[in-house]
Amino acid sequence: MFATIPVNISTYLFLDRAPNSAKLSSKSMIWGLFFLTLTTVVFRAEVALLLAPLCLQLLYKKQISFLSLVKVGLVSGLFSLALTLVVDSYFWNAYPLWPEFSGIYFNVVEGKSAEWGTSPPLTYVTSYLPKLLLGAFPLSALGFVADKRIRSLLIPFMAFIALISNLGHKEWRFIVYVVPPFNIAAARGARWMVSYRKNSLLGRVLFLIASGIIVANVIITALFTTASVGNYPGGQALSEFHRIYSANETTPPPCLHISNLAAQTGASLFLQLNSPPYYFSSSADVPRQPWTYNKTENLPPDVLSSSTSPFAHLISETSPTAVHSNQWQVVASVNGFDRFVVDWELLKGGKGGLLSRPWTLLRLEESEKLWILERKGLRSK
Ligand SMILES: *[C@@H]1O[C@H](CO)[C@@H](O)[C@H](O)[C@H]1NC(C)=O
Ligand SMILES: *[C@@H]1O[C@H](CO)[C@@H](O)[C@H](O)[C@H]1NC(C)=O
Repeated sequence: MFATIPVNISTYLFLDRAPNSAKLSSKSMIWGLFFLTLTTVVFRAEVALLLAPLCLQLLYKKQISFLSLVKVGLVSGLFSLALTLVVDSYFWNAYPLWPEFSGIYFNVVEGKSAEWGTSPPLTYVTSYLPKLLLGAFPLSALGFVADKRIRSLLIPFMAFIALISNLGHKEWRFIVYVVPPFNIAAARGARWMVSYRKNSLLGRVLFLIASGIIVANVIITALFTTASVGNYPGGQALSEFHRIYSANETTPPPCLHISNLAAQTGASLFLQLNSPPYYFSSSADVPRQPWTYNKTENLPPDVLSSSTSPFAHLISETSPTAVHSNQWQVVASVNGFDRFVVDWELLKGGKGGLLSRPWTLLRLEESEKLWILERKGLRSK
């Protein structure tokens, strides 16, 4: 996600010019190329797949000569490489270290990225792009058809999606850079749709459709956000755990096992407040003895519950009845998002119900996902 910032800056630099002028200042272009190269070398190597089509486009449009392009590329590349070597080697305490190169070597050359799972070739176009863009997806297609300038803006980004689709492993964040330019295209599409509203009935219909798409976008975004908020039971559980137990309350201090689901849904190192490093605590909050947070995977309930196990507390994804309930008592449970359900009764019940409370038409369904468990008899000791 950090890489979106420099990529976005360079997108801006490639677009920035006098109104209605096709000419790009060479200063903007050089800085734009610099930021993309920096991103490729330091943050996300796959941005090379955007940089290459963009360079070809610049050469084709004769906006830069081949020699100058090579010069800019070499200077930016070597500068970025020196930067990542110095900074990353220092912080990882290993010399020489070029993290992006190691990442590419592991994921692409050795082909290990496929081990994270693979998706069909068209996944970006059929699934991730529509989800990222929502209503802007059809509007951007319209913008593409309506305006030559939009075509020239989008082509390198579309080439990027086509190229990165060759990689088996796909994630929406790999193509997040395309969202700002596609939004520009969508704005152009929407502009086209609303521009005939005074001329004809069809123009007014187009205007209504464009407005409808924007309203639908807002509603869907609100629903997706609500679902996302409910998708971090692990983070909620760990915060809840710190609310229930204060830093020095139990002796010995809590030894907590965090289940896989919890670790994947927000129970991150940042929330492990009572063990070092203590970045955000005032000295009064620092426990006398640090707590133990353990995320070892695949420990069966037998092992967690056994009398030799060090754990006095669990954030468990196994329901309390399945985890030796004679050993553990439930301190709290945390819900997580399941699905949205349509309330058909409300629809069948005639207009009255629907009009008086339309927001109840879609109901958010949650269920218990995680349980905070405490070993029985702990308090009496
Ligand atoms: C990209 O930059 C523009 C300004 O140049 C800003 O308005 C926009 O929010 C940025 N978008 C992202 C995703 O960073
Ligand atoms: C976590 O607990 C397991 C089981 O007791 C133990 O084998 C492992 O070493 C612990 N991990 C850490 C990092 O303390």
